[in-house]
Amino acid sequence: MRIAPGRGVRGALAVPGDKSISHRALLLAAIADGASEVRGFGRSADTCSTLDALRALGVEIAGEDDRLTVAGVGLRGLREADGPIDCGNAGTLVRLLSGLLAGQHGRQFELTGDASLRTRPMHRIVEPLRRMGAGVEAAARERLPLGIEGRPLRPIRYELPVASAQVKSAVLLAGLYAATGPTTIVEPHPTRDHTERMLETAGVRVRRKPGEVSVWPAERLEPLSLDIPGDFSSAAPFVAAAALLPGSDLRIAGLNLNPTRLGFLNVLERMGARVSVFNRRPIGGEPGGDLEVTHAPLVATSVGPSEVPLLVDELPLFALVAACARGESVVTGAGELRVKETDRIEALTTELRALGVRIRATADGFRVRGVPTRIQGGRMDARGDHRIAMLGAVAGMVSREGVEVGGAEAVAISFPGFFELLDSVTER
Ligand code: S3P
Repeated sequence: MRIAPGRGVRGALAVPGDKSISHRALLLAAIADGASEVRGFGRSADTCSTLDALRALGVEIAGEDDRLTVAGVGLRGLREADGPIDCGNAGTLVRLLSGLLAGQHGRQFELTGDASLRTRPMHRIVEPLRRMGAGVEAAARERLPLGIEGRPLRPIRYELPVASAQVKSAVLLAGLYAATGPTTIVEPHPTRDHTERMLETAGVRVRRKPGEVSVWPAERLEPLSLDIPGDFSSAAPFVAAAALLPGSDLRIAGLNLNPTRLGFLNVLERMGARVSVFNRRPIGGEPGGDLEVTHAPLVATSVGPSEVPLLVDELPLFALVAACARGESVVTGAGELRVKETDRIEALTTELRALGVRIRATADGFRVRGVPTRIQGGRMDARGDHRIAMLGAVAGMVSREGVEVGGAEAVAISFPGFFELLDSVTER
């Protein structure tokens, strides 16, 4: 796919429902007592992996487009699947589902995924789930496939070795099945808190203190009736394009504005971007609202370990924005990027260098020398990673020569209509 240079992005748009919340909504609705309704479901390859996985576990899910009804089977009602459950490319699915399956006493499950997911670390969930008493067997080097045997679980207090909402969520979900409470997670830095919020909505006892969160075992989960807000991570490429292109004035409506997801916005504001939030309102148990972004000249900034989880999926876009901001920008404490859908430190630095960006990888981040002009452009490869494909698209918009993005169809992992929507707001 070739992305020509753009003059600006203008107009109003909405993005699909939040991917993190869409996964969680299906998973919790599946184990609720009774029928849940989910509106604004962000349908993508990843969230369809969750739909398919739950169906394989005996959960009936009906509906089309972004409205779904889920017939909850109750906390302990997931049945053994006929074969391995394919989690596709979805790290969130495999980690969170493991927490639920660990509590399905007396049943056995096998989880696997695509070539990318099979290279990703699972030790991070295997270890705490085993401590809780679950039977978990991983393949060599603690990779997928994962065998899980549901057993009686005990509560733990667990200090996360890495700031990961996926690991936090896996343990909290397993905590629903523990013999007593609380099951407590201690976080090195705050991460997205959608699981905690949704558990509270479903009637679970949750206690939150600075740096830690606890859950108590549940007897039953209330069914959900949920409107899923727009995914800030899907909006981020549009936000980046609007911030960088002089002819821009863009409104994005109905977004999830949970502070644990807004690191990219804060970083952009620090760099001088003009961003306003209005119509603040709760959407589906999350802080929501509309966003307006216009262009302004940007200056370099640094992002450190405590901020990283708040923009972990937007760091590839940050690299591009930093390339067009005056001065040197530095990211540290982002080693987690090496174990995402690709090694994103390697991927983003190599692919952006091919487009003329002066960027260098470090062990746990990168350094970019920014010049407030258009980047050159050229050819890059998405490497099967949706966030790298979207990075390539924005890179093309802010380039002099345009960018040919190889494997651009990877956007469908999180955002199938991405290119059409981008086209609809682009001024050439
Ligand atoms: C997610 C958490 C993050 C993020 C991923 C979605 C979630 O992963 O990168 O895209 O939904 O909990 P980690 O928690 O492993 O950092």
